[in-house]
Formats: sequence, structure tokens, C-alpha cells
Amino acid sequence: MNKIKKIAVMTSGGDAPGMNAAVRGAIRTALNLGWEVYGIKDAYLGLTTGDENIVPLDWVDVGFPFREGGTFLGSARYTDIQGDSSNAESLKTKALMNLKQHGITGLLVIGGDGSLTGAYELYNFLEQNRETIPSLEKMSLSIIGIPGSIDNDIACTSMSIGVDTTLNTIVESIDKLRDTATSHKRISIVEVMGRRRGYLAVMSGLASGADRIFIGEEKINQKDLNDMLHVLHQSFLNGQRAGVIVRSEGASFSTSFLKETISELLEPRRDVRETVLGYLQRGGSPTAFERALATRMGVKAATLLDRDLSEPQLVNFADNEIKSVPLKLFVKKVREQEFQTELSPNAKKAFQLAIKLEEPPVKKSSKLKIALVTDGNNVSGMNMALRSVARLALNSGIEVRGIKGGFAGLHKINNNLLNLEWEHA
Ligand code: F6P
Repeated sequence: MNKIKKIAVMTSGGDAPGMNAAVRGAIRTALNLGWEVYGIKDAYLGLTTGDENIVPLDWVDVGFPFREGGTFLGSARYTDIQGDSSNAESLKTKALMNLKQHGITGLLVIGGDGSLTGAYELYNFLEQNRETIPSLEKMSLSIIGIPGSIDNDIACTSMSIGVDTTLNTIVESIDKLRDTATSHKRISIVEVMGRRRGYLAVMSGLASGADRIFIGEEKINQKDLNDMLHVLHQSFLNGQRAGVIVRSEGASFSTSFLKETISELLEPRRDVRETVLGYLQRGGSPTAFERALATRMGVKAATLLDRDLSEPQLVNFADNEIKSVPLKLFVKKVREQEFQTELSPNAKKAFQLAIKLEEPPVKKSSKLKIALVTDGNNVSGMNMALRSVARLALNSGIEVRGIKGGFAGLHKINNNLLNLEWEHA
């Protein structure tokens, strides 16, 4: 395999905050290896068009955009190049020719399912036609995929670029919606993105204490709707002044159906308002976690190109590390029925916990009493941990006390004992 000298990077499909950080990581690693680097404008559309859409990039070009949302290279959903129609094959040939004309032998594709599958098809098309299409003769091309999709719907990786920032955007929005719903004793239905996958809904619902989360992976029935009404009724009965329902856009029924159901069947009647967060979820400056994840993925991708690869690879996040797997494994797994229709094990646990945490408390039946205390410097998130313990205990019939003032409060416990009920948590 010829040593790499020139590489190109492109961002493709739905844009995701953090893409710029991945480009920066890849480009700076490549420059440090002494390679020439190019950016492809507007994904496969720019790659097939060529000319001014393939631009040389230097150190300074990737200096600042990494803090910005979106992708400074631009993106596009360009499905014409996918598949084996004569038009798609002609577009693949053009794309490869454009790379060959620039002497580019390494391509990094940052994107979701369609973009990464498209990269695999492009590679295979070259392998199968190098001898038969004269213009592709002797061309070599190493391809590395980097998972970029706010939906977290990419197989073989536990996190894709864009997810963490989008989750923060959603939770911040839900917190704001809860403020006004609390003022008016209303129920707020929040529709979030995710296409057919419920990961964003599950994690944002858990993080924002939603009374119920609806996702496409769950086959909903009338009992689920009745349970939701019961949870909402009990929440208000237990002192909560607002209800929050998070619905993934892929759930089996519409946001307006949910709104009608709650408006008509919840007793006592409550005002219901719906908010579709829409494209807010795709923008925003990437979070610290996002920037670090994306940068590390970009660096890994460029580093892989410096090796003799026998086949395209996908950079992934697994066991809390940045690794890589053959791209063909992703293409196979992402089409498996189980992957398409089930939450990941991690998301499934989170979904079940989110439902459990909203189950109304049962009559105290256990002899067990527990006390919760926080000590040392307070950190954000302590209240979330206390809420989880208190609610899981309360809905198991266990009495819960809080100790004010940390371990010091234990010495004068009678003055520092709080009786923690549902509404406190
Ligand atoms: O895949 C990311 C995503 O934002 C989905 O969550 C959403 O359903 C879709 O893209 C919207 O697609 P488009 O940007 O083409 O309107």
C-alpha cells in the first residue's frame, strides 16, 4: 500500500455539534505527520462536484471553528450516490476521480448511518472497478469513518459525535418548560429528535425527571397511557405542580394525540401545552465532553490512516476508550433487526429506571428506615442522586429521612432530621 501523503476530510448527513472538533483533531494530526490535507465542502455533493469544493486546509483553518456548532465544511444529505444504479455508479466514479486528481489516498468521513454506509460503498466500488474503469486504474484509497449523529443511532459505538451537546440542549429546554408549567400547574409535552431511535428521549427524560417518556422502540398500548395518567394524577396529588412528558419523534403516536388524551382524560383537568424542540437540538457550541470525544476521534482516525489498513475502519467509543472496528462490521450490525428496533442495553436500563422513579410512593410497609446525608464539598448532581435513592425507597414503602449539615448534623440529629416525602424528591 502506498504511503499516505494527502488526505481529505468531510462531514456528511445531519450536522452535529462537535464535528468541527473532530476535523481539527484529524487535520492537525495529519499536518504533524507531514501530510497535505484537504476539506471537502458539502459532503458527497461537493466530492462529486470537485473544483472549489475540495479545498486545501492549513493549521490555522481549523483553529477556531472547533468551539462552534455545525460544521465549517458544510454538509448535505446526498443519497444519489448511494446504491448501484448507473447514476450512482457514475457519481461514485466522479467522486473517486476528483480524489485521484488531487493525489488524495486517504478519506475521513464524519457522519451517520447513510454517510458511513456510503463510504463503505465507495471503497468497494473502487476495489471492484479499479481494473475495469481506466480512469480509476492503480488508484488506492484508505477510508476511515467517524460516527457523527445526534441520534446516537450508529452501531458499534456507545456514543457518536453530537449526542452530549444535544442532550444538554434538550435538558436545558425541559428545565425552562418546567418553570412555566410549574407556575401554571400545567403539563408540558416535549417532542425531541432522534429519528426512529429513542436514545435522546430516554436520557433527557431521565436527566430532567420526566413523568413519562415515549419512544419508538416501545410498543405502547392503552395500559401505558392509563399508567401515564395515573402517574400524572399522583404527582399532582403528592404536591408536584407540573407534569413533563418527553416524546421521541419516532414514538408510535403523535404529540397532539398525547395532548388530547391528557386534556380529556386526566382528572382533575389540567392545561396541557406541547413544544417541538426541532432544530434547536442540532445547533449550539459543543460541550466539553463533546469537544474532547470528537477531537480524540479525529486524532484516532488520522492515526489509523498512517497504518497499512487492509480495509476501511470505523472509529468508535467503547469501554470508555476510543478504538476502531472494521467499517463492514458497522454496515452489517446497523441493519440487524435487533439493532434497529431495540434500545441499547445501557439505554434500556436508563429507560426502566426513569419509569421506576416516577412510580407513585406506596404506603409505608417496610420496617426499614433510611437516612440520607451529603458531606464534604457539595457537587452538582448530589440532589439528583438523593432524588433517585429517596424515590426508589419511597416507592418500595421505606421511610426516608434526610440529615442536614453533613456528618456534623448527625451529632445533633434531632435538630437536623428531615422527613423526606415524595414532593421533597
Ligand atoms: O439525524 C439527525 C436528525 O436531526 C434527526 O434527529 C431528525 O429526524 C433528522 O435529522 C432531520 O433531518 P433533516 O435535517 O434532513 O431535516
